[in-house]
Formats: sequence, C-alpha cells, structure tokens
Amino acid sequence: MTDIETYITQLFAQEDEALSWARSAPEREQMPRISVEPFEGKLLNLLAQLVGARKIVEIGTLAGYSGIWLARALPEDGQLYTLEISSKHVEVAQANFERAGVSDRVTIQHGDAIDHLNKLTAKGPFDMVFLDAKRDQYLDYLKWAVVNLRIGGLLVSHNAHRGALAAQQPDNEDAAMMNQFLHAVAEHPQLTATIISMGDGMLVARKTS
Ligand SMILES: C[S@@+](CC[C@H](N)C(=O)[O-])C[C@H]1O[C@@H](n2cnc3c(N)ncnc32)[C@H](O)[C@@H]1O
Repeated sequence: MTDIETYITQLFAQEDEALSWARSAPEREQMPRISVEPFEGKLLNLLAQLVGARKIVEIGTLAGYSGIWLARALPEDGQLYTLEISSKHVEVAQANFERAGVSDRVTIQHGDAIDHLNKLTAKGPFDMVFLDAKRDQYLDYLKWAVVNLRIGGLLVSHNAHRGALAAQQPDNEDAAMMNQFLHAVAEHPQLTATIISMGDGMLVARKTS
C-alpha cells in the first residue's frame, strides 16, 4: 500500500474482526492473495450505498472479502449474488459471510459465472454488477450487465489500471483483455464511465438508457 492508501484506509476503511479475518483467509487457506484492498472495499460499499443498491451481482468471490463490504451496504431485504467457480473458495467464503453476519443477504452461486448469469436474469434487474474474475469472459459479462442492470445501475470492475499496460506489454494477455473490455465500455452507447485511480483502478460505469 502507498502512504496515501494507508492514510485513506486508516481514516475511512478500518476493518472489524470479520473483515480482517476474510482478507487474511487466502494466506491461511493456501488460496491466491488477490482480494481487493480495504480502501477499495470501502469504495465498493460506498458506491452500492450511493445507488441505493438492493440487488448486487459479484463475479469472483474468493474468500468473500469484497462480498462482505458489498453486503454491508445492502438493506435487510437486499441480496448479493456472488459467483465462484472454485468449491474450496465457496466453502471458505460461506464461513466468512457467516462470521461477518451477512449470510442472510448473500447467495453464493457455485460454478462458471456465465452459466449462473443466465439463471440470474430472472432475479433482475440489478442495481450493481461487480467484476473481479478471469478476464476472458469480461465482454460476455458486459453484454449481460447492460441488459440486466436497471437504468442508473452501476457496472464496476476491479484491476482497470491493467488496461493501460496493454500498449507497453504486447505479450500481456490479461492487459490486452482488460484494454479490450475498457474500450467496449467506453464506446458503449448505454454507459457513461470512468476509472477511479486508486489501488489497481476501479472502473465505474453507469447505465444511462
Ligand atoms: C480476484 S478473485 C476475487 C476476489 C474477491 N472479489 C475479493 O476481492 O475478495 C477472482 C475469483 O474469481 C474466481 N473465478 C475465476 N474464473 C471464474 C469463472 N469463470 N466463474 C466464476 N468464478 C471465477 C476465482 O476462483 C477467484 O476466486
């Protein structure tokens, strides 16, 4: 974390015991340590509050860290649907949602995100969709999100700064896919967007029509 990120975290994004347990879970459970940072989690929480989110879809649960930040922005009758391909990650995340006291408003959908998105359509429209998984399906997630967000709803994506690496690193497939996705968002007639340059960059796009 940079000094500024540490300052923001201490001032605005302090974790309780459940959040810090969930963020350290990947280390304990031999899972990849790729959760959002606390200040990014707080940003997600605030964005969800700003749109009065009642129904959120997250793609990429890992240990449930970002999911806890999102779920805590929901009203009691709200619901976070979080999609995860790894059974181990599902098990760890479920325990972390319980520990954080949000399991009543979180449904983990186990399997490939694309399959679950198609089933989730019936529960929409959604107020917010947060992308934080493997980049090769992002153009499909974009198509789904534009159809299934309400007007005024938000499409948010972690790791948006990676798109900027595409020009300097022609062999970086992750950067190329992120760049392609960001261009598709920028050119989409139903979205207005920008990147909030904190952490690894948070794309925030609003569905306008
Ligand atoms: C970056 S991590 C998510 C981190 C989490 N959002 C957080 O900040 O706490 C990405 C997760 O996406 C999952 N994933 C990757 N490809 C997927 C797919 N096709 N469908 C569902 N989940 C997927 C991985 O197993 C991993 O747990």
